[in-house]
Amino acid sequence: MVKPGVARISISLPPTLLENFDQVTSNIGYDRSKAIQQAMRDFITEYQWEYDPLTRLAGTITFIYSHEVPGLETELTAIQHQFPKTISSTTHIHLDHHCLLVVVVNGPAKEIKVLASKLQSLRGIHQLKITSLMVE
Ligand code: NI
Repeated sequence: MVKPGVARISISLPPTLLENFDQVTSNIGYDRSKAIQQAMRDFITEYQWEYDPLTRLAGTITFIYSHEVPGLETELTAIQHQFPKTISSTTHIHLDHHCLLVVVVNGPAKEIKVLASKLQSLRGIHQLKITSLMVE
């Protein structure tokens, strides 16, 4: 439930941290409030699956893998078939020696985490990143 209006807070932090934060914020054209809101959303989605596993998130699981590892493509397909409600779509891009797969996800935070963990555990996956965004 989104409440209207704004909440004002006061926080304590090391001066150097604030200086660095303001520098980065200014460089990307954000004001301090907008930057802190985005940082808070990132923090929440990073840990939300642990304490609120049913919260709905939307995002992507992006990874690079070697298509030459025997059986890997079959395992990738089998895992994706275990999450038909969570996976909205996938995009496969053929790179020089590897493949890039972007799996668009939308569902309970825990499901997204479990799906990502299963994919990451496969041999031949080089790097995997989860992007999860708050739906509300
Ligand atoms: Ni490919």
